[in-house]
Amino acid sequence: MQKAIGIFDSGIGGLTVLSELIRVLPEENTIYLGDTARVPYGIRSPETVTRYSFENTRFLLSQEIKMLVVACNTASAISLDAVKSEFPLPVIGVLEPGARAAAAATRSGRIGVIGTEATIASGAYERAIRAMLPRAEVTSIACPLFVPLAEEGWVDNDVAELVAGRYLSPFRGTGIDTLVLGCTHYPLLKPVISKIMGSDITLIDSATETAAEVRSVLEKLNWKKAGSDEGVVRRYFVTDTPARFEKVGKLFLGEGSLAAEQVKVGGA
Ligand code: DGL
Repeated sequence: MQKAIGIFDSGIGGLTVLSELIRVLPEENTIYLGDTARVPYGIRSPETVTRYSFENTRFLLSQEIKMLVVACNTASAISLDAVKSEFPLPVIGVLEPGARAAAAATRSGRIGVIGTEATIASGAYERAIRAMLPRAEVTSIACPLFVPLAEEGWVDNDVAELVAGRYLSPFRGTGIDTLVLGCTHYPLLKPVISKIMGSDITLIDSATETAAEVRSVLEKLNWKKAGSDEGVVRRYFVTDTPARFEKVGKLFLGEGSLAAEQVKVGGA
């Protein structure tokens, strides 16, 4: 099917998911919406996050997409079920693939989760992990400052290390052997997180797991795009002015043009 895969995030961070999707499915057309006028979602109420998710989905549907990827962990944790029951297309979030990978990776059954305040408060990762591995003991910690650090590109300096050391210290003594990076921005801080946690802790990057899930759903439905990656269409929409998205986005997506168009989505 030639229609694009639609992806939304609260802003720039979902580009880590898009980047993995492009690696795994280079021939697929993609339409990315970053709700940059209303970021961050991680500090908002469930009602507001759900409303934003609906408005973003309606916009992407107006662009004729075949599948929706909710690339934001906060939106996935809070509104995925509501989006799935409201809209008639396959919807994939980032939470279940990450939880499944964590349940498969752990040997001790002790799993750590880090994410935004809203994601951690929702308890969604814990529920998803325990549904797959009932004996799991899950310790969850919100790390809100990781988001601005990643956006600033401060991912491997002394400040990042200090902040990571402070946030992650409660994991000491819990015996976790697996840590879920439950936020779009955290994969950028992988080296620092790994340095603090130690190389024997498995870090689960939901972006990688989500891309694999998208491929498997497209294959099952027989909806993969025919042909090669030549002439592939990549479109970017943002709800704030595009300049910052185009500049900072390169950190998340690597090279390539991120020319974005500003759109009005719901009340944004
Ligand atoms: N995209 C959000 C997430 O993955 C992080 C940024 C925000 O708080 O909106 O949870």
